[in-house]
Amino acid sequence: MKRDHGGNVSEISRRYGIDENKIIDFSANINPLGYPPGVKETVIKEFDSILNYPDIDSFDLVSGLSKYHDIDRDYILVGNGSTEFMYWIPIVFKPRSALIVTPAFSEYEKGLKISGTEVSYFQTDGENGFSVDIDRFCKRLKDGFDILYFCNPANPTGVLTPKDELCRIIAYAEETGTLAVIDEAFIDFVEEESVMKAIFRFSNLIVLRSMTKFFGIPGLRVGYVMASSSCIAKIRENKSPWTVNSLGQRVAADALSDRNYIRDTRQYIIAEREFLRNALNEIPGFKTYKSAANFILVFMNSRVALNSTELRDRLAQEGILIRDCSTFQGMGDRYFRVAVKKHEQSIILIKKLREVIK
Ligand SMILES: Cc1ncc(COP(=O)(O)O)c(C=O)c1O
Repeated sequence: MKRDHGGNVSEISRRYGIDENKIIDFSANINPLGYPPGVKETVIKEFDSILNYPDIDSFDLVSGLSKYHDIDRDYILVGNGSTEFMYWIPIVFKPRSALIVTPAFSEYEKGLKISGTEVSYFQTDGENGFSVDIDRFCKRLKDGFDILYFCNPANPTGVLTPKDELCRIIAYAEETGTLAVIDEAFIDFVEEESVMKAIFRFSNLIVLRSMTKFFGIPGLRVGYVMASSSCIAKIRENKSPWTVNSLGQRVAADALSDRNYIRDTRQYIIAEREFLRNALNEIPGFKTYKSAANFILVFMNSRVALNSTELRDRLAQEGILIRDCSTFQGMGDRYFRVAVKKHEQSIILIKKLREVIK
């Protein structure tokens, strides 16, 4: 079966009769250290808040984000995961045409198409390391697009476009009258490369951020958008109310002030990413791409008999989930993506991969 997203633990558990707790999920890129310490206690303590509607303005969370990023509250809007904004942005700004840098997260396109936007692609490829040729991209913008989507670091490749180069694109997009949506769902490991502060320079810039991956709370659904205050006001006026639940607001606000957890997560991911990448590269027929995120993209050459869907299915039977990348635009069936997880889990992954492709 083709799947647009990773993280289908319950489905695999049902299909293969494997206990959910025994499944190791490398298909969703969630912090292997789990949520910050104290989250369970907070949820229990705050539980009765569900008797009321959540704070419609997510006041405490927006204040926390404002402090965390040193950006005024008026430039921030919180949502039910960053995915929510992939649907609101097209509804609010009504773009007629969009350019998406691919391969990319499928929700950009879904959100755009529901609003009737015509979608075009700027395809990056493995031979060029999936990097974006900035000049070529700017030239393409001349075709006249109302909106562009660019994920940095990119998912599923992990490739980082340096901030200065991205700002060149945003500046060029401003000239062509193109709204630039930069998805920074995985920027937490290279925060210094974020373009968020460029919202003060560019009125056409919208930055999407997710709290679900880095802070290990995908089930609580918290994300946000940063843009000029007029842009934020426009989305806020149109967006449906109360989409961020009260427990999510509280947990996310607290998480931002847990400096130790944030530091430990960064250190852990960077060290384990290095370990996992080296181990994957040693498997005959495998090649990985340098990643700035908490996942690694792997290419399998023709020496590997299985394609990415077959590999995914074989590993699923063993209780290991990987992200088959064949559903990403233009990727074919030789790529898969794995999340950086706990050291001992990575060792199991490497062992199983070696067995399965033998
Ligand atoms: C590139 C990218 N952006 C955004 C998201 C969505 O994140 P959220 O959980 O905040 O909706 C994902 C989820 O996988 C993603 O891969």
